[in-house]
Amino acid sequence: MEKANLDWGSMDFSYKPTNARFVANWENGSWDAGALTEDANIVMNECAGVLQYAQTCFEGLKAYTTVDGRIVTFRPDLNAARLNDSCERLRIPTLPDGMFLEAVDQVVRANAEFVPPYGTGATLYLRPFIFGSGPVIGVKPAPSYQFRLFTTPVGPYFKGGAKPITIRISDYDRAAPHGTGHIKAGLNYAMSLYAIDDAHEQGFAENMYLDAATRTKVEETGGANFLFITKDGKVVTPKSDTILPSITRRSLMYVAKELLGLETEEREVFKDELGDFVECGLCGTAAVISPVGRVNDHGKEITFANGLDEMGPVTRKLYETLTGIQMGTVEAPEGWIHEIKCD
Ligand code: PLP
Ligand code: COI
Repeated sequence: MEKANLDWGSMDFSYKPTNARFVANWENGSWDAGALTEDANIVMNECAGVLQYAQTCFEGLKAYTTVDGRIVTFRPDLNAARLNDSCERLRIPTLPDGMFLEAVDQVVRANAEFVPPYGTGATLYLRPFIFGSGPVIGVKPAPSYQFRLFTTPVGPYFKGGAKPITIRISDYDRAAPHGTGHIKAGLNYAMSLYAIDDAHEQGFAENMYLDAATRTKVEETGGANFLFITKDGKVVTPKSDTILPSITRRSLMYVAKELLGLETEEREVFKDELGDFVECGLCGTAAVISPVGRVNDHGKEITFANGLDEMGPVTRKLYETLTGIQMGTVEAPEGWIHEIKCD
């Protein structure tokens, strides 16, 4: 199949419309079968639940071209399950069994020319989302919903790719105890926009959020979980009920323990122990693993000695193994890779 004529090697993380997207609607208690459409625009009522009360949640996953030319996605079943978890918390009807995975297959097939070739560093980002489409003025769930899944080819999330970034400890909170930090609700991102713009204006690439209750524990950034490496090579990740259960992080912890034989630990990570770690990375679908070189704590710099100028050695090993699994150069654990036949 002929690929689209795009400059794959210098792609940024931005929206570029592709051929087709999947759309299904929920009304009167059930979802319709859904279908592909070329129309990238949505027309809806001014009083739609999403517009008035931000009743929406989303997912993010990628399609890759493997070394032997197959098109695959990575653990899409976990995105399907997490979207349903988000829906339940937001009083949005969950998708029927199989619809999410069917939409992924159909949309990737229809946009196969936009799945970047192997070795370019670019990938096809898939954005599934559901929103309250029907009108609602009292604060209650919308009477109708739309599920959509579009794609856009993307490059690295952070400018500079694998160059370690500097982040700051945020004075704004991301998620309240017993709130919505553990789901992928649009509202979590809306309320982070002020903080991220402010971080950028101060010269930082991202915010490190602390737990809102005590402001002593590391949570996550606006769009990725943390991994830390100790002096003796242990992989540590924060445990918290108010962070998003990242599929990348869960996969990396398995890779670290089962494939690389590293010690791993998911536990509370205190801000005051940051200086004890020698490497730090942000992990997520968009971020993959983006190395963090420095954390700025209100003017005090915390540096990660093994990852200041380039990705540290343990982070690199994790990065290479994960991307190797995704691109077919490393054998994948059972069930992690879903091939989409496109010819
Ligand atoms: N944390 C937040 C707040 C995110 O938005 C994301 C992105 O999806 C992640 C973590 C990483 O999750 P995943 O690895 O499932 O993409
Ligand atoms: C993803 O990694 O898929 C996300 O949704 C994060 C977002 C900040 C782009």
